[in-house]
Amino acid sequence: MKIGIDQIAFATTPYYLDLVDLAQARDEDPNKYLIGIGQSKQAVVPPTQDIVTLAAQAASQLNLTAANISTLIVATESGIDQSKAAGIYVKQLLGLSDFIRVVEVKEACYSATASLQFARGLVALNPAEQVLVIASDIARYGLKTGGEVTQGAGAVAMVISANPKVLSIEPVSVNYTQDVMDFWRPNYATEAMVDGKYSTNVYIDFFQTTFHRYLEQTGRELADFAALAFHLPFTKMGKKGLESEISERDDELATRLRVNLTAAQLVPREVGNLYTGSLYLGLMSLLHHGDVKPGERIGLFSYGSGAEGEFLTGILESTYQAGLGGIALDQRQRVDLATYETMFKQHLGLKSTDVTFNVDADPSRFVLAGLKHHQRQYQVKE
Ligand code: HMG
Repeated sequence: MKIGIDQIAFATTPYYLDLVDLAQARDEDPNKYLIGIGQSKQAVVPPTQDIVTLAAQAASQLNLTAANISTLIVATESGIDQSKAAGIYVKQLLGLSDFIRVVEVKEACYSATASLQFARGLVALNPAEQVLVIASDIARYGLKTGGEVTQGAGAVAMVISANPKVLSIEPVSVNYTQDVMDFWRPNYATEAMVDGKYSTNVYIDFFQTTFHRYLEQTGRELADFAALAFHLPFTKMGKKGLESEISERDDELATRLRVNLTAAQLVPREVGNLYTGSLYLGLMSLLHHGDVKPGERIGLFSYGSGAEGEFLTGILESTYQAGLGGIALDQRQRVDLATYETMFKQHLGLKSTDVTFNVDADPSRFVLAGLKHHQRQYQVKE
């Protein structure tokens, strides 16, 4: 039985920062950001958006009325509560049935892939069930830090089902986990701590280890792939990953893999790091802009600091366009550096006092109106 991604949709915040503006403010050459890092813009998060509203924004674009959703899994490393699952708020905002299982999972940027695999297991047990997996995050490193240029925010929502419209996930994948301190965020911090250069080396090491073990286990070779999609903390990282495998080659296959990587990078370079959702936004970008035909194999490298990697694969279905959500970035509003810095500081984070936000300033459908008696106040605008 085929099991995989039946529908996929993406949402981000209504605001962005042009990274040339950031480069000028931080006294850096813009080409370091545009070429060296490979990012052009980053999502800016107003106080009225968090992982719940972003998740709802993404999932509301899916056709959930016909779906038989048994379980909702929210994958995130930007949790808003140490106890209650963010997905319960999302379930309420979306108006899903009360007869549903809802949990939140965590392992840095990797956990959306774990959720996808858990969902495959549930569907294998009962093929009539569908699982809603939402990867939702806000990547925060802090103002004037080395990681600032790689910030971003957004959510990718996926329905996992039998006989999927978009991508059938193949049975063999390789997982790899080691206790590594490349990036982490203790409970008392609202911004990530990172050993930046080291993290990029660990990422490459985990890609090489999982990919080569996959080739050994399956007897497949690079030519069996139409495209490789990568977790994209910044788009240059995907290039480093691909080139670690094909830097010596300039044949037709290597050219195709490079062209498809560029396609996968197109949308992420306008949004920034989505943490859990990054790989899947790259996949959407690839399907919109790349050269992959139904029946062809796509390799997916998922990486989460800490660290855990998985190399998995999928076969593109002939019906993929029917389940592939649109990407509307042209509605976003550009903000200047001062507005970005103000919004960055307004983040609810660890605050415990009541606050009310101006939801009228935010054009999004799902908004966070503030905090009252330690409870987050969500609204749906009709
Ligand atoms: P940095 O020190 O600011 O940058 O840190 P740099 O000096 O290394 O320069 C970056 C690149 O720009 C270099 O290219 C330079 O040569 C180039 P590279 O050698 O890497 O190919 N450059 C220029 N290019 C053109 N014109 C110029 C110019 N100047 C320089 N004028 C770093 C960069 C990525 C380390 C930093 O931004 C950072 O710490 N980011 C956050 C960590 C991160 O994203 N790590 C990625 C791997 S870990 C991961 O993916 C997991 C994660 O998503 C979290 C999770 O799992 O939850 C992060």
